[in-house]
Amino acid sequence: MGTEDNIQRTLRRGGVQAVSTFTVMVASPDGALQAEVNSYLAPFGYGVTGVTDSMSALERIRTERPDLVVADVDLPPLTGFELGQSLKQDPALHVIPLILVAGTATDDLRVRALAVGADDLLSRPVHGLVLRARVRASLKAKAYLQQVLRDRGRLEELVKERIKDIERVTLGLVAALERTNRFNDTDTGLHIRRVSAYSELLARGLELEPSLTSRIARYASLHDVGKVGLPDSILKKHGKLTAEEFEAMKVHTTIGNEILMDSGADPTACTIAYCHHERFNGGGYPRSLSGNAIPIEARVVALADVFDALTTRRCYKSAIQPEEALRVVREESGKHFDPGIVRVLLRNEAVFLQVLDAHKD
Ligand SMILES: [Fe+2]
Ligand SMILES: [Fe+2]
Repeated sequence: MGTEDNIQRTLRRGGVQAVSTFTVMVASPDGALQAEVNSYLAPFGYGVTGVTDSMSALERIRTERPDLVVADVDLPPLTGFELGQSLKQDPALHVIPLILVAGTATDDLRVRALAVGADDLLSRPVHGLVLRARVRASLKAKAYLQQVLRDRGRLEELVKERIKDIERVTLGLVAALERTNRFNDTDTGLHIRRVSAYSELLARGLELEPSLTSRIARYASLHDVGKVGLPDSILKKHGKLTAEEFEAMKVHTTIGNEILMDSGADPTACTIAYCHHERFNGGGYPRSLSGNAIPIEARVVALADVFDALTTRRCYKSAIQPEEALRVVREESGKHFDPGIVRVLLRNEAVFLQVLDAHKD
């Protein structure tokens, strides 16, 4: 008798097509079950091999990767159920179908078999037609499962590639906006660089999730991007802003948020632009948020931004000494700033002063 059509498969090896049949491994302490299975399947082209204990079954399944396993439930030292459990928990082997065989396939035993992931439980002596039907159905299901897993793998690869593309585009966008920011702001490019460095130090010190830390480091530079919407008369004014001008200045937070949202930027970037002037005690703008209602990324950038503003000269004010700036930060803990973030800055005072020194205007 020839090989059954639906169990033939074509393998491509080095461009040469070869026909191979499915292999079935029988695990049973006596040779009778293997002989039985062999007599029903071999005439239809299946290759049947046998092992007599569960340990060598597991070992040979790993090395030989049979297409299907038929196992006796009374297998030493692990039972057929335990063998099934090991097989189904192994990510490399779980797709291999398992048919368990018992003296009498009671409902209880069948429930146990299905619970460990076996495809079925058959009674001995095995019925030839039932066995073949079950083997073919299991192999078909396995082929579908493998196809689904392959497709999923391909999709995951595609998603990863798309994420990389988006990250590349976002980084380009960040660089472009940073440049715009520098052209339109009285702040120098160095301010942007220092705020990014301080923000990263604070995020690391807070032991935030690594991906959030890198987003904060990347997007802190965009905190004032909304200033492109402000007139020079406000932006470059020497001296104090009038109450009216200050109201107009506040709008840079909402403009920044809108610009970034419209360009599909990462939500962390939007939040930083939107909330970096909120104060821990609720006295900030634009929404008077307080405490933890202010997103952590914005609380981080708020401290980094003010620390930098204090320690550097602006067109409307001169710089104060670092020691004085640290005193202000300490005093504003719990008022302007999140006390937990202030503690991180004070713990890392020396590193902050190094950054200031390395990126002097
Ligand atoms: Fe700002
Ligand atoms: Fe700033």
